[in-house]
Amino acid sequence: MERKWWHDSVVYQIYPRSYNDSNGDGIGDLNGIIEKLDYLKTLGIDVIWLSPVYDSPNDDNGYDIRDYEAIMKEFGTMDDFDRLLDEAHARDIKIVMDLVINHSSDEHQWFAESRQSKDNPYRDYYMWRPANPDGSLPNNWGSIFSGPAWEYDETTNEYYLHLFSKKQPDLNWENEQMRHDVYGMIRRWLDRGIDGFRMDVINLISKTPGLPDATVHPGALYGDGGEHYINGPRVHEFLHEMNEASFGKYDVLTVGEMPGATTDDAILYTDPARKEVNMVFTFEHMDLDSGPNGKWDVIPFDLLKLKQNFTKWQTALHETGWNSLYWNNHDQPRVVSRFGNDTTYRVESAKMLATLLHLLKGTPYIYQGEEIGMTNVAFEDIADYEDIEIRNMWKERTEQGASPAELLRSIHIKGRDNARTPMQWDASENAGFSTGTPWLKVNPNYPEINVEQALADEQSIFYYYQQLIRLRHDHELVVYGRYQLLLEDHPEVYAYSRTLEGETWYVYCSFADHDVNIPSTHDTSDRVIGNYEESVITDELTLRPYEAVVFRTFEG
Ligand code: NOJ
Repeated sequence: MERKWWHDSVVYQIYPRSYNDSNGDGIGDLNGIIEKLDYLKTLGIDVIWLSPVYDSPNDDNGYDIRDYEAIMKEFGTMDDFDRLLDEAHARDIKIVMDLVINHSSDEHQWFAESRQSKDNPYRDYYMWRPANPDGSLPNNWGSIFSGPAWEYDETTNEYYLHLFSKKQPDLNWENEQMRHDVYGMIRRWLDRGIDGFRMDVINLISKTPGLPDATVHPGALYGDGGEHYINGPRVHEFLHEMNEASFGKYDVLTVGEMPGATTDDAILYTDPARKEVNMVFTFEHMDLDSGPNGKWDVIPFDLLKLKQNFTKWQTALHETGWNSLYWNNHDQPRVVSRFGNDTTYRVESAKMLATLLHLLKGTPYIYQGEEIGMTNVAFEDIADYEDIEIRNMWKERTEQGASPAELLRSIHIKGRDNARTPMQWDASENAGFSTGTPWLKVNPNYPEINVEQALADEQSIFYYYQQLIRLRHDHELVVYGRYQLLLEDHPEVYAYSRTLEGETWYVYCSFADHDVNIPSTHDTSDRVIGNYEESVITDELTLRPYEAVVFRTFEG
């Protein structure tokens, strides 16, 4: 496998709105990020992925872009951006931007033109259709943010497609001119010196020609259009074309967010010979606690399924392609609350989950606050939630008669605002995030869980992440070693090994809140890292609640 700089890199995702507010308006900003670069250097990460910082009316917090080549005014200016880039590079930290090109904002200049008339040169940059002869919508697809995927526009008496909010019209990738305008924009950012892109729902850009109706699952209001746009017919062609026309000429990192991509798909997307993207974000492990009715239908987490899933990805992409590894991002609940224990064993379980993920093969992504074990939040008043996905879902389902208490429960467990509460810097007002009123309430646990506290405690989750990052930098085995699942059927322990050139590491992670004994031949002198001070080894290895421990052995 040809070695790449992003193979042994660790990425840190910043959701700028919630990171650090330098000017007291309650919204995080670019200067706020610059203030924290030394903190990130101490953590040891190599790359920052910035969630969108482009000009946007913020219907979906920047994932609705009004101008791809301007900075959102709440976040600062293009000069601030260039300074961030320089300051990050001066510390040897790379910057990866979000690239949201499945859709734009309805306030983008292209859409303003497109909606003017049916013969406007930009008409075809978006997906317009008339109503059916019987007056029904062009097709039965539902929007991922509730309601139908079509919005009526009076000016031309037609509907436009929006897979997300009605302020996020889908771009029409069948239009060659649109594609080339997008590639030009990508090149201009690369020429500015950025180090790559995280590509938003990039496997949704190609839709089945004719946009046919989709299956309506039992209990659903709309058709599941995904069958006509997930990994659609021309997606590989478009990605290859994009690669050749833009980032393929630069030594940058590209990661495609790809809901519904299987390992077979991922191999095609990430095989270097095919020149598409470097790696994908799979959703499969994030869907393990969702029932048949989707994200809000919460089912218990099953460790055996997680093991099977990670093992499938680790094995399938070992020879060809590359994995990305993540527990968290701005769309997901906090992992320590989700798969760990955010009360009695918060510190232990956060470290255990970190060990499990960071010693796998692939590029790890840390989401802001994960490194201090930030938890989910449970606002009792729906008015305290800002996320459009939550708000639309609430409106649709309460109108249908769903129980508000039940909905609130699902929101507490799965809502995206769990990840978006402001970063907890210290125990001062607003967690040190802002001197103004934060755009989203802070998690009330900030007096105990914050960066200042973590930096003062040698045993903190923060320093444990620092050690894990170092292990990746210092050991080729962590980067390239072959993965093997151990104790396959154990219901409470996830164990695996990594092997490279005669050296093997054994990783044991307990998901139990009590002691568990497992067979072991390891000696304490083989120990690499662990989240308890010393290991308990008799003729067996005793794993204490949420214990993680790693041993190494050499052949011969
Ligand atoms: C995925 C992004 O991560 C999410 O935050 C956003 O709402 C949708 N794509 C639409 O852009």
